Amino acid sequence: MTFCEYRPGLEGIPATQSSISFVDGQRGILEYRGINIEELAQHSTFLETSYLLIYGSLPSQEELAEFEHEIRFHRRLKYRIRDMMKCFPESGHPMDALQACAAALGLFYSRRALDNPDYIRAAVVRLLAKIPTMVAAFQMMRKGNDPIQPRDDLDYAANFLYMLNEQEPDPLAARIFDICLTLHAEHTINASTFSAMVTASTLTDPYAVIASAVGTLAGPLHGGANEEVIEMLEEIGSIENVEPYLESCIQRKAKIMGFGHRVYKVKDPRATILQELAEQLFEKFGRDHYYDIAITLEKAVEERLGHKGIYPNVDFYSGLVYRKMGIPTDLFTPVFAIARVAGWLAHWKEQLNENRIFRPTQIYTGMRGTPYVPIEKRQSEQDQQLLNLVTG
Ligand code: CMC
Repeated sequence: MTFCEYRPGLEGIPATQSSISFVDGQRGILEYRGINIEELAQHSTFLETSYLLIYGSLPSQEELAEFEHEIRFHRRLKYRIRDMMKCFPESGHPMDALQACAAALGLFYSRRALDNPDYIRAAVVRLLAKIPTMVAAFQMMRKGNDPIQPRDDLDYAANFLYMLNEQEPDPLAARIFDICLTLHAEHTINASTFSAMVTASTLTDPYAVIASAVGTLAGPLHGGANEEVIEMLEEIGSIENVEPYLESCIQRKAKIMGFGHRVYKVKDPRATILQELAEQLFEKFGRDHYYDIAITLEKAVEERLGHKGIYPNVDFYSGLVYRKMGIPTDLFTPVFAIARVAGWLAHWKEQLNENRIFRPTQIYTGMRGTPYVPIEKRQSEQDQQLLNLVTG
């Protein structure tokens, strides 16, 4: 066995073999099962893309109709889940609510019949169907309202926007939202997918797998960045302030949210598509003043940091799209999770096909053979510092 050098963050170290998605970070290419993301954004739907990711090929008409039908049928939440959600504090972050709800599903379906294809199918369908309902229900409840029941006559994206706003969405907004879900559905071995795979490798239930991935996605260096982008644009406030803001970030070595990527060293192809979608929305519903700040910032970052491969990532323009749709800022990451469930489930299934529990190694840097000191003989750090001062 050969040992690799230690790479913080496992950068560049393959953690698995996978046939789900492919990224070329130098040329800005992303493919799901070999199909280019631009083509999927243009021609596919989120549910068709989910099927592609999870089952390996595009569905026939009958397969897609059946998949969509099953998902429509399972959109509702059990009243016990809704009751549990009523106890959540309104001020809590929706990602924490979502993680708790995803884990709670396991209480109802915890058989762990991982060798039974029907169990696998039911888990796939339930998770894809119920996660959007959970996100929308939390949003309604924290405003003091009852959750809106899903509508069977609306497709996946339109139904989510309807449950969120109690209003049938504009068809352009619904189609654009569906494309956003497709763009966020999968992205090789990122932090949350890795988390899902590690959890899956223990052969626990799929609800625990998704709950652990949701928890990982929530961080500001991962899915949480889309929320922080809007906060940053608000803080910048005007086009004139872009340069001073950027200068201050560079001086402080602070990260500019929505920029940079471990894999992409050019503009993320999803950011390019999202920017086009934002422009379509602005054309129909009016321009957002933060968009002008965003494009000025993109240009300034490219000039100052382009040589380091720092360009907009998927999170830079997605927030502007969601904002125009009236989605609250703290729901941006839950919306990311709604989409990414498809990728997590695809990796869960792939992991089960050739499972070996993840158990990496470490390089130990601590002490060895340290004697146990009884508590009455221990010195606090303060005592030790004083002693050092006295003894010089
Ligand atoms: N702003 C300014 N400088 C940056 C940025 C940024 N956003 N990202 C990376 N750099 C610089 C960094 O300072 C370092 O410079 P130097 O070599 O001079 O010290 C160099 O680029 C390498 O940075 P790193 O932090 O070692 O790169 P990484 O691969 O560990 O980090 C990242 C990738 C996404 C965590 C990071 O770019 C970042 O924190 N970006 C801001 C947060 C963000 O937008 N996250 C969303 C990521 S994409 C979607 C997702 O995963 O959910």
